[in-house]
Amino acid sequence: MIKLCHIDDIPEDSSKGFEYNDHSLFAVKKDGQLFIYKNSCPHLGVELNWQEDQFLDMDNALIQCSTHGALFLIEDGQCVAGPCLGEQLQTIAYTIEDGMVTVDSR
Ligand code: FES
Repeated sequence: MIKLCHIDDIPEDSSKGFEYNDHSLFAVKKDGQLFIYKNSCPHLGVELNWQEDQFLDMDNALIQCSTHGALFLIEDGQCVAGPCLGEQLQTIAYTIEDGMVTVDSR
């Protein structure tokens, strides 16, 4: 198990990237809920962000790939615009214990 951070370390309507053991993930907090995805665009398999912790569009309403601009729903990672329309980001399961967000290390 890998402890990513404390739930309060991710402000509302923002995203944060994490790297460990060759894994790249990111978390988005919206309406007090946390969503975690693998940092890999279904279009070309590249990382979505070009700047640290920047995974959202200008309105912080959707997840955006910086390479070709694909847009994904924060709630389920489904692509709603762009070259991978209809495909989905890979969800990462997590648990929160004493405020610490933890994911499986595999
Ligand atoms: S690599 Fe993400 S939209 Fe093309």
